[in-house]
Amino acid sequence: MSKIHHSFKEDIIKGLTSFPKSLPSKYIYDKNGDKLFQEIMAMPEYYLTNAEFEILDQHKTRICSEFAKDGDFDLIELGAGDGKKTKILLKELIKNDFEFHYLPIDISQNVLMELKETISKEIPEVDIETKQGTYFNVLTELDEYRHRKKVILFLGSNIGNLLHENAIKFLKAIRNNMHQHDMLFIGFDQKKNPQTILDAYDDKAGITERFNKNLLLRINDTFDANFDLDHFLHWETYNPESGTAMSYLVSKIHQAVEIKKLSMKVEFKAWETIHVEISQKYNEEVINWLADQSGLKVHSSYTDEKSFFKNYIFTKA
Ligand code: AVI
Repeated sequence: MSKIHHSFKEDIIKGLTSFPKSLPSKYIYDKNGDKLFQEIMAMPEYYLTNAEFEILDQHKTRICSEFAKDGDFDLIELGAGDGKKTKILLKELIKNDFEFHYLPIDISQNVLMELKETISKEIPEVDIETKQGTYFNVLTELDEYRHRKKVILFLGSNIGNLLHENAIKFLKAIRNNMHQHDMLFIGFDQKKNPQTILDAYDDKAGITERFNKNLLLRINDTFDANFDLDHFLHWETYNPESGTAMSYLVSKIHQAVEIKKLSMKVEFKAWETIHVEISQKYNEEVINWLADQSGLKVHSSYTDEKSFFKNYIFTKA
C-alpha cells in the first residue's frame, strides 16, 4: 500500500468511527477532484481566484522587486495547482531579468506534470523543477535549498483549510525553515458579506457538491466501498463571528455503507453528518495574531479593489 493510501486508510477509519464523523478534505484531490477544483476556480461565485489574480496583476512590480531585492532566489510554491496566478509573477520576474529557480510542490503528480508542460510552453525561460509531496513532508526538504534565499508562495487562501491551531503549527514549520532574508508570500481570504461567502461554497450548478462528494467516490474506488452519492447532500454553513465556513455531507436516510477493503461497515442515521472541510476567513487582527504566534512578522500587504482578499509578505520576526 502506498504512503498516501496508508494515511487515507487511517483517516477513514478514524473519521468514520468517531462522533461526529469527519473526513479530511485533502483526499478530495485525485484526478477528478483536481478537475472539479479547476471548475470551481472558474465559477462566477468563487470570487477568491479573481480577487487574488487582480492583486498579483496590480501589484506585480512591487511584489517581484521585493522578492528579488537580495539577488537570486528559489521560488518555492506550496500547493501549486494550475499556476494560473503564479504565471503573472513568473512573467514579471523574467521580464526584469531577475535570477530565480521555480520549485512548485503539490500533492498531485498529475497537476505538476500539466503545470510543467504549460510553463515550458508559455514561459520557456523559467527554470522549473517540480516536487511531489504533502506540505509538511516537503517543508523538511526545504532545508536542501538553504544555500539560496527562499521565497515561499502559499496562494489561494489554502491556509484557510486548516484550523487556527494547525495553521500556527504549519506557519511555525515554515518559519523554522526560513533565514533572515527569506520571505513567505501568502494569501488570506477576508471576512465579507456572509452571503457572498456562502454562495462561493454552495454554487447553483452543484460543482462544489460534486467536488465534496468526490471524497466518497474516491473511497468507493480505492477501498471497494458502496457509498451511494444520491443518499448524501452537500451542506454549507458560514459563521460570520468566527469567520469559519464549514462543508458537510449529510446522510439523507438511515443507511449502512460497506467498505470492503477496510473490512468496515459504517452506519449512518438519517441526517447524520460527515464534516469534510473548513474554509477560514480572516481579518487584520487574526492575521497579525497568527503571524505573531508563529514567530513571523508582516513585511507588506496587498489587496484588491473590493478588499475581498489579501496577500502578505511575511518575514521572520
Ligand atoms: C483549496 N481551498 C483553499 C479551497 C477553499 O476555498 O477552501 C477549496 C474549496 N472547497 C470548496 N470550494 C473550494
